Amino acid sequence: MAAESTQTAFTEFTNPNLEVLFSEQDIKQRIRELGDQITADYAGKELVLVGVLKGSCIFLADIMRHIDLPLSIDFMSVSSYKDQMRSTGDVEILKDLSNPIRDKHVLVVEDIIDTGLTLSRLLEILGSRGVASIKLASFLDKPEPRIKKELVVDYTGFVIPNKFVVGYGLDAAGRYRNLPFIAVVKDPSAA
Ligand code: IMP
Ligand code: MG
Repeated sequence: MAAESTQTAFTEFTNPNLEVLFSEQDIKQRIRELGDQITADYAGKELVLVGVLKGSCIFLADIMRHIDLPLSIDFMSVSSYKDQMRSTGDVEILKDLSNPIRDKHVLVVEDIIDTGLTLSRLLEILGSRGVASIKLASFLDKPEPRIKKELVVDYTGFVIPNKFVVGYGLDAAGRYRNLPFIAVVKDPSAA
């Protein structure tokens, strides 16, 4: 039988390179509030939630269970960042919606708005399809690096400082989407 190790074994969720910004509890509470607000604002209407892959998947899955309205979901995939930590400004549609959105009330669901370049372009594209209305819900809003100052974020989970964050769907080069909290990576060069 192997001797018990006295070394502390960190897991992905207890990685000391992560500094928690919003806990699982903070997030649950805020999602509930946002869901109630959206439910009230769209009372009597049907809603199409458009998730922007991949970052919004957890936010979308959580918030839709707090929106007490008839709704459907669809997904878009656009490339703007690839594996880098900064925006290129170019938006390429990698996957378009599965269904038409003409005459629908569309709520675009995003993980984070940073420069706003991706979302501004996406809202232009979707807004030109004859929708009844189009609004934007973003789990996080990082206003400082905003280039598209005119972009309106209708529903925001949390406003954050200009730091690179991960978890709750957000990644750094594909990693950390599974963290149940939002964290800052203290040393991005450390594994
Ligand atoms: P924008 O065009 O600069 O607003 O880009 C927004 C996209 O950049 C988000 O959907 C994320 O994929 C990515 N992004 C921006 N900031 C962060 C961050 O702090 N962590 C992880 N991804 C980010
Ligand atoms: Mg994204």
